[in-house]
Amino acid sequence: MIWVFKFSTFKDLLKLKYMRLYKFHVNYLVSKCLFMLVIVLIIKTILLPNLFTLDGSKNYEMALLKPENVRKKFLEVPQIVWGLNNQKIAFARACLTARMLNRSLLMPSLSASLFYKEIDKLEPISFDKVFDYEKFNSLCDGFVHLSQYSNVRNQSDVFELQKGSGRRWTIEKDFDQLKEFSKEDYDLYETIRVVGKNPFLWHDHWPVSDYAKVFECLVLVGEISQEANKVVSKIREFGNEVNSVTSYQTPYVAIHMRIEKDWMIHCKKREQRSNLSDICSSKEEIITRVANIAALRPPTVLYLAVANELLEGNSVLNGWKEGMHPVDKKGLGVVDIYKQHPYLIQAAIDYEVCLRADVFVGNSYSTFSSLLVLERSQKMIKSGISNACGIEGRWPSYAYNLEGESSGPRPWMTNFSDSSLQAISYGSNSVSC
Ligand SMILES: *[C@@H]1O[C@H](CO)[C@@H](O)[C@H](O)[C@H]1NC(C)=O
Ligand SMILES: *[C@@H]1O[C@H](CO)[C@@H](O)[C@H](O)[C@H]1NC(C)=O
Ligand SMILES: *[C@@H]1O[C@H](CO)[C@@H](O)[C@H](O)[C@H]1NC(C)=O
Ligand SMILES: *[C@@H]1O[C@H](CO)[C@@H](O)[C@H](O)[C@H]1NC(C)=O
Repeated sequence: MIWVFKFSTFKDLLKLKYMRLYKFHVNYLVSKCLFMLVIVLIIKTILLPNLFTLDGSKNYEMALLKPENVRKKFLEVPQIVWGLNNQKIAFARACLTARMLNRSLLMPSLSASLFYKEIDKLEPISFDKVFDYEKFNSLCDGFVHLSQYSNVRNQSDVFELQKGSGRRWTIEKDFDQLKEFSKEDYDLYETIRVVGKNPFLWHDHWPVSDYAKVFECLVLVGEISQEANKVVSKIREFGNEVNSVTSYQTPYVAIHMRIEKDWMIHCKKREQRSNLSDICSSKEEIITRVANIAALRPPTVLYLAVANELLEGNSVLNGWKEGMHPVDKKGLGVVDIYKQHPYLIQAAIDYEVCLRADVFVGNSYSTFSSLLVLERSQKMIKSGISNACGIEGRWPSYAYNLEGESSGPRPWMTNFSDSSLQAISYGSNSVSC
């Protein structure tokens, strides 16, 4: 609208000038003014090119004119931190908090690097560098909504919501505070800004199904999903090479092997603390359980999703059952694809490769594995199978740390009726199969 208006006045100006030219001699003052205007326009174009691109101001104007953006209220949250899956969970909590406060979440920063304690080294990366912003809003339409900072009209119309932390800040206190801020009194403020130390890592107030809805709207941006395509096609090529028997595509099993030293120390401690013995699995145990998956007929490819740099030696490829062909990133020749990216993107590619696998085998105590199984279970349900604990349907998953039938791994599916994410992810061996 504004552009059309500006354009027509400019045209009028020209017309005016033309008439004057025709009727009179060029007025010295007018031409001087026009000359100055042209100079100003040139300088402006050079110094502030964004003002003249369609993405900048025009989209902004159009966004403001959309009905859903009229009088929109926002929630602002601090940078989201830690590993890929903790970031996904924290992001979902930020979305669900915004939903509870009837606000749109201002697109947060994620963290590209993985530093747990050195906060100053957490390299921020915009959400839309990893996930597709437009797709998120169209898939989650009517449930949760993301906005851009340029949508905020008054930057100083902010109320700061200080979230507590530590032992005394209980889940009840946290929830009461959110209820308080959902009240109409706070509708006065255009933006509520959450402040506090990683406020979305801890308390969980929402059912699994709400998280699942948010995760479903997280679609990787094109560049990253293309990187995953490259890795998957390398796996498929490897499958063709090892398969001289059958004509159909060799299935690939993605195995999320947590056997690096850090994890082993961590999980042994956890076993002691919780008086359990089925959290840690050695490499040998994983190999035995995978070999006993009854429904898996050779030849198969085993894609080993391991943190190679954290392992000692190259023994991870040895010892697997005949007909099961293990391969890691090095063997596929894809190390360079990963190396080009920071931690978060690498993890996102690996997640996608495991998500698309014909079969997934993971550890039921790992958040990475749990979120994968959640998304795979969702796909399974969408394809019409409501409870397939096993390989009959597409997208089957197993937990190698739990023993199932005939010494195989336990089939694993997410229970979407659970009331909290904790019940199905970290700190749980419930696999509902
Ligand atoms: C939520 O906010 C929108 C506008 O931002 C308003 O029209 C709607 O009534 C609000 N809903 C509730 C339940 O407060
Ligand atoms: C912006 O918000 C502040 C704080 O609420 C208020 O004092 C100020 O008048 C607002 N400015 C405009 C232009 O509305
Ligand atoms: C740990 O579990 C075992 C059986 O699984 C039980 O006999 C033992 O009493 C438990 N120890 C504690 C401290 O709960
Ligand atoms: C799923 O969770 C609900 C609620 O916690 C529970 O009642 C039900 O038994 C669970 N189903 C399975 C198969 O574990």
